Amino acid sequence: MNDPRIDISNAPDYVRHRSLREWVSRIARLTKPERIVWCDGTQEENDRLCAELVAAGTFLRLNEKLRPGSYLARSHPTDVARMEDRTFICSARKDDAGPTNNWVDPAEMRGTIDRLYDGCMRGRTMYVVPFSMGPIGSHIAQVGVEISDSAYVVVNMRMMTRMGRAVVDHLGEDGAFVPCVHSVGAPLAAGQKDVPWPCNDKEKWIVQFPETREIWSFGSGYGGNALLGKKCLALRIASVMARDEGWLAEHMLILGVESPSGEKHYVSAAFPSACGKTNFAMLIPPKTFAGWKVTTIGEDIAWIKPGKDGRFYAINPEYGFFGVAPGTSDATNPNAMKTLRSNVIFTNVALTPEGDVWWEGMTDTPPARLIDWQGQEWTPGCGRLAAHANSRFTVPASQCPSMDANWEDPAGVPISAFLFGGRRSSTVPLVVEAPSWEDGVYMAATLGSETTAAITGKVGVVRRDPMAMLAFCGYNMGDYFAHWLKVGKAAAQPPKIFRVNWFRRDAAGKFMWPGFGENMRVLQWIVERCEGSAKGRTTPLGIMPAYEDLSWKGLEKFTRDQYAELSEVEHDAWVEELHSHDELLGKLGAHLPGELEARRTLLHQKLAA
Ligand code: GTP
Ligand code: SPV
Ligand code: MN
Repeated sequence: MNDPRIDISNAPDYVRHRSLREWVSRIARLTKPERIVWCDGTQEENDRLCAELVAAGTFLRLNEKLRPGSYLARSHPTDVARMEDRTFICSARKDDAGPTNNWVDPAEMRGTIDRLYDGCMRGRTMYVVPFSMGPIGSHIAQVGVEISDSAYVVVNMRMMTRMGRAVVDHLGEDGAFVPCVHSVGAPLAAGQKDVPWPCNDKEKWIVQFPETREIWSFGSGYGGNALLGKKCLALRIASVMARDEGWLAEHMLILGVESPSGEKHYVSAAFPSACGKTNFAMLIPPKTFAGWKVTTIGEDIAWIKPGKDGRFYAINPEYGFFGVAPGTSDATNPNAMKTLRSNVIFTNVALTPEGDVWWEGMTDTPPARLIDWQGQEWTPGCGRLAAHANSRFTVPASQCPSMDANWEDPAGVPISAFLFGGRRSSTVPLVVEAPSWEDGVYMAATLGSETTAAITGKVGVVRRDPMAMLAFCGYNMGDYFAHWLKVGKAAAQPPKIFRVNWFRRDAAGKFMWPGFGENMRVLQWIVERCEGSAKGRTTPLGIMPAYEDLSWKGLEKFTRDQYAELSEVEHDAWVEELHSHDELLGKLGAHLPGELEARRTLLHQKLAA
């Protein structure tokens, strides 16, 4: 057993990959699980695991008539969101992680890992979960193998990625994979009864080694902390691969938009966590936009490669959605509501007496009685949230009615425009087009947004979140900006870049812009700018539509004055805004590209003029 040459991986015969067996054996020796199970991704396996999760109390089966094939999980109250302060980039040199990442020396982290993982799976099953980010075999796709002691993680990974035996077959004897080790960090002593949501409430670690392309996650079972294909692999590790290989791994949705004349564009948009990617990706145009059609490729992550024709081609590396529940309704996102009719894992939403789910914003009037996300009786007006603000659904993308016919095209779709948008109550106008790639990179690099419940910590504080990648860039942010400048310059037809803000508020604190489906008005202007047909006026910030440059059909109640307020560029606020850019740019020192420094000086001058 302790002889490292002995294969204790329990791998099925179809696993011909020696170093994969060796790695699994090595992790088993370290973590000392009760048993090892290789996941093949079949329906039978999934049904068995779900039954086990129900028996363990982790899953509650929802009403089979109201929500077929669906489950509710309630997490431990300390394990409800991503933890940025517990996320580490362990590059050999601190400078390569840069000032925006938490860094620990890799040798020191290896020591911590040896301590944390020694026997951490005692009494538990160790699952081996092979997965592909992107269509199996696509030249843009990457393979990972996640070892996890959580069955909840396995059934989520089966929806979020292409998971199972097909991936092992694709790997063959020596294919490359990213090793991902996940433990909830809650070993069971002999005879100890398990809890519904095991996790470690003392310590949590989400660790990336960019050079050796490894992921180690300890102590949490929630979302991006535990489903390691998503933020850890598809963004933190992939951003490093992308830098080395000349492509982009981005926190972006991808959508298709077809005009009445049949012209089709694909657009990719980076909004920080819980700032509207899922909603925008599934947008349904207002009734007055006859003949316009929006289709979905992805709603959280995009992998984008320059093509031979000088355009950028994007794939969605994911296979499912791990989306924000609160605020999702038939009014705001009907496509998501249809996607959620069956085969869903809900986490931390409320339960109705009928055995269905509810969350804030799903209906105008809440049900009279609920069980809240912590399993407590809940009535309207009791002062608590029924669903956690970061409660989520996990669901296969294939169930979404707006999926694009090409969403699984291994070659990707050509991107016409990149959008960047945060949650900004003030200062930032509805939409601005960057006059050039360099201006656009500056816009994206200085993106600001108010923090949300998707991460632990204070909500509603404006911070710089460059490209919505603050928590997801696996290397020095200044080098990342330089990489963006470089790939754009090398491309004959890089996408046009726009900044948007759906979240500006009036003096009374109300959202000024109706948002959701009405965002189509901005999207139309954007694609028509790409085609060269829409007008705009030059401002110090970039090109903005005048009132008459946007279509108002069906939204006539939105007045010219309201639009003026929504798109106002207030001089003093912008002087302050530019100073706040320094918060981030100033930290980057010699890594800040000169072009961006120059843009900032130019903006100061334009505003002063
Ligand atoms: P992550 O999964 O965390 O990356 O989030 P996301 O960017 O996909 O955000 P999502 O679309 O789930 O939206 C988050 C919240 O913002 C939800 O409560 C939405 O209802 C709300 N939201 C989305 N779009 C709009 C909009 O145009 N206007 C307003 N006011 N709210 C919006
Ligand atoms: C985000 O926080 O941006 C998410 C949710 O998409 S998680 O998968 O938990 O990272
Ligand atoms: Mn996200």
